[in-house]
Amino acid sequence: MTRIQYYAAMSLDGFIAESDDTLDWLMKYEGSYDGPGVEPMKGSYDSFYDDVGALVMGSATYEFVLDHDASGGSWPYKGKPTWILTSREIPKLEGDDVDIRFVDGELASHLDTMVASAGDRHLWVVGGGNVASQFADAGKLDELIVTVVPVVLGQGKPLFDRRLPGGAFQLAGTQAWDNGMVELRYEISP
Ligand SMILES: NC(=O)c1ccc[n+]([C@@H]2O[C@H](COP(=O)([O-])OP(=O)(O)OC[C@H]3O[C@@H](n4cnc5c(N)ncnc54)[C@H](OP(=O)(O)O)[C@@H]3O)[C@@H](O)[C@H]2O)c1
Repeated sequence: MTRIQYYAAMSLDGFIAESDDTLDWLMKYEGSYDGPGVEPMKGSYDSFYDDVGALVMGSATYEFVLDHDASGGSWPYKGKPTWILTSREIPKLEGDDVDIRFVDGELASHLDTMVASAGDRHLWVVGGGNVASQFADAGKLDELIVTVVPVVLGQGKPLFDRRLPGGAFQLAGTQAWDNGMVELRYEISP
């Protein structure tokens, strides 16, 4: 069954990007940890990504990916439908196995189609925090998988951009990685 998963990396003080959208704090982070239960981080993204059937992201995240990972035309999410929330006319990357779908307006009216596009795998809510909050507000976020990076930014783009309905999330697992990051998994009840 398709689950809707928000999978993101977050600074120790709750931000997923700097105010100017830069991610050096994440991309250039180096650290180490050698304590009990530690596992290599290498391979963890691939293992998550193998179970992703489709992705959804806000236009700012899409434009960031276009400017960085996809420069030169190498879209990182080939073969998987990628839904972009936007109210604007923005460039649509084309290419072999690139499946970008723009949608606008109330999330609820697109949810069934997004979930169906994931087939028997999961729908990855890439971000940002406003998009993740729309899913949570609609009672449609099943799981949060957040990797905590031990840096403090002071300000930036938040993991969620508002107070969410419902109570506390239920901790479902933790994993310390060998680079000092920690993955926290939470189940979210509607
Ligand atoms: N650390 C991580 O793991 C992680 C994960 C994801 C993103 N990020 C970073 O976070 C930053 C972006 O986050 P963000 O929160 O600023 O922006 P975002 O969520 O990527 O994009 C927000 C924009 O999406 C459009 N949008 C959202 N919901 C919509 C709807 N229902 N209908 C129509 N349009 C809608 C709106 O723009 P328009 O309508 O004007 O197009 C809105 O301003 C980037 O730097 C990205 O790289 C980091």
